[in-house]
Amino acid sequence: MNTAVPAGSDAGTLYDRLIRPDRVHGSLYTDQQIFGEELRRIWYRTWVFVGHESEVANPNDYVRKRLGLQDVIMTRDAEGRIHLLLNRCAHRGNQICDDSRGNSSSFRCPYHGWTFRNTGELLGYPYNKGYGGKGKVDARLGAVPRVASYHGFVFGSFATDGPDLLEHLGAAAGEIDRLARLSPEGEAELTAGWLQHRTKANWKLLAENETDGYHPQFVHGSIFGVTGSPIGALYSDASTAVTRNLGNGHSENDLRPEFRKFNEPMRWFGTTESRVPDYVARMRELHGTDAAKILVEGAPHVMIFPNLFIAEIQVFNIQPVAVDECVQYSTAVQLKGAPELNKRMISQSIGSVGPAGMLLADDTEMYERNQRGVEALSPEWLDVRRGLSRERVDENGFTIGTATDETGMRGFWSHYKKLMEA
Ligand code: FES
Ligand code: FE
Repeated sequence: MNTAVPAGSDAGTLYDRLIRPDRVHGSLYTDQQIFGEELRRIWYRTWVFVGHESEVANPNDYVRKRLGLQDVIMTRDAEGRIHLLLNRCAHRGNQICDDSRGNSSSFRCPYHGWTFRNTGELLGYPYNKGYGGKGKVDARLGAVPRVASYHGFVFGSFATDGPDLLEHLGAAAGEIDRLARLSPEGEAELTAGWLQHRTKANWKLLAENETDGYHPQFVHGSIFGVTGSPIGALYSDASTAVTRNLGNGHSENDLRPEFRKFNEPMRWFGTTESRVPDYVARMRELHGTDAAKILVEGAPHVMIFPNLFIAEIQVFNIQPVAVDECVQYSTAVQLKGAPELNKRMISQSIGSVGPAGMLLADDTEMYERNQRGVEALSPEWLDVRRGLSRERVDENGFTIGTATDETGMRGFWSHYKKLMEA
């Protein structure tokens, strides 16, 4: 394994040595100790995407989720509030919930029968005289202390203080707004079910690739060729699309300049207005003259640090398993009030990220090859300098590069470094 961390005088400057403006050290993807630090300083500290409120639509619905290495039960209580409970009995640590989803106001531990409400509160324990009677045990299920959502996207933070979710999202919140705005009812839902892709690669290789506009022409060249897809051209040297560092580790591949050039509503979705007439009519009714712009510009392509990737019509949730392994969960976006689009979003997602899909399989092959490559001892560094000398600042103060530049990766690494050194 590449654990040859470059020498330096003290631990405080470790990440300064590993993360340079134009390159990052291979040990960041292979070192066990660094992975342990990431769990403490990123996964169990910052805001991490967990799931969507629409997955627990009714009171007492629950669904099992992951947050870092934690097995989490996302519940909606009788009053409608969302909780992220840790799947561990407060008695002697047994796993309390087996089913991947369901509806129940309480969870009963199979070991000695302690029962907890879906808010985490202890309801009862058998043979209570052994504890001096009812209501004598002061215990509850563990929980992620801070839970917040934005347009239904649920995030959890194990830190009891620090930036709130809106501060963390910063400019990326506007990208979630853009997605929700495509629904005639102003709401995106994640109700199509999640596919799980277990990948033998460090989670950061996936996060970086989500913002990498350099690879599509090569990795996905064959599928673009076979299907006659216009996507490849969006990520070429001739593309007017830009890569934008949104701050806080978030970045977007802003394809709007390309779509504006063609000025064709629904082109972003690979279709025309005439094929989705009800949807277009509802959007025009709702947005009036603004509808044309919304329907031309389409959905965002944004990577929200550290693990939420919205790729127009799909949402990805990356969760680590080990230093060299992670799971990428993916689902099709469903727009409330847009049945014409929703059906197509599911079939397009099956075609691209499903078990026999042609897009994610290619990316996954790259992630795993990448992991095997970075375990070699030399050269020690990965290059992230593409476009560094031609970056500029846009009218809103964000650093941008061309469609194929590594501006987003550099934004990811600068925030990563800040968190790891905090
Ligand atoms: Fe859960 Fe004993 S471990 S009731
Ligand atoms: Fe790709």
